[in-house]
Amino acid sequence: MNPETDAIVLLHGFPFDRSMWREQIEFLSSSGWRCVAPDLRGLGENVAQASAGESAAEHDPRLKSGPPATMHDMARDVAGLMDELRIKRAIICGLSMGCYVAFEFVHLFPERVRALVLCGPKAEGPDETEKQSREAQAGRVLTEGMQFAVASISQNLLAAATVKAKPDVVARVTEMVLQTDPKGAAAAQRGMAARRDYSSTLTRIKVPTLIIAGREDGVRKPADADFIQQRIKGSELIVIDDAGHLMNMEQPEAFNRALIGFLKGLDSLIH
Ligand code: MLT
Repeated sequence: MNPETDAIVLLHGFPFDRSMWREQIEFLSSSGWRCVAPDLRGLGENVAQASAGESAAEHDPRLKSGPPATMHDMARDVAGLMDELRIKRAIICGLSMGCYVAFEFVHLFPERVRALVLCGPKAEGPDETEKQSREAQAGRVLTEGMQFAVASISQNLLAAATVKAKPDVVARVTEMVLQTDPKGAAAAQRGMAARRDYSSTLTRIKVPTLIIAGREDGVRKPADADFIQQRIKGSELIVIDDAGHLMNMEQPEAFNRALIGFLKGLDSLIH
């Protein structure tokens, strides 16, 4: 293994943190892979970066309640971290918001991407309704805190089988959401509202790509994964049963199997 290129960078979803990759880090590390799972800007323990734009906010009343943490910012943060860790090229694996960051990253730094793993991805940009809804959520999180977001865990994020049979996963997800800094969450919502439409650049992605979807994902439609799979040449789509939006936490064995199968196949795909 070459530590400068045999690394996998795991980008979490929203409003979560790096701890969502626990089972993947354990599994991949024991198979010899170098894993890097940062807390993205403003989230998890990375709250310092959320205030990076606050001096701008002092002078701009529209940003008073928090500037956006854009997908572009987050992708640059990831590149900076890779520089620090002396990782030239990595497999970039994102889940949901992490996929927006992965799309931004492959666009900005194509030579630094050895392969992509896109979990619960969506490529289209936000329409007006989505933008308004994200702004409303950002406002709500700033005034009410994260508690209101907990209701959507069993409704949208997790498969029925997870809610019924895996109380530990439900508890972990709930804790992650509640521990999220409201300012960081609002900044990320605004960043997602400002994201580009990635659909027209999908055909430019030339690296091996695995797409993973949860069959019961209440946040992403299966059509979103199909759309991407049809446009990234040679990409593969794996759908995991009894899994929702957080498929890697809900069905870690099936997820890890899919991931390692793809990683093992990379050597034969890459020259
Ligand atoms: C996520 O899990 O990262 C979110 O569902 C992303 C989004 O709100 O689009």
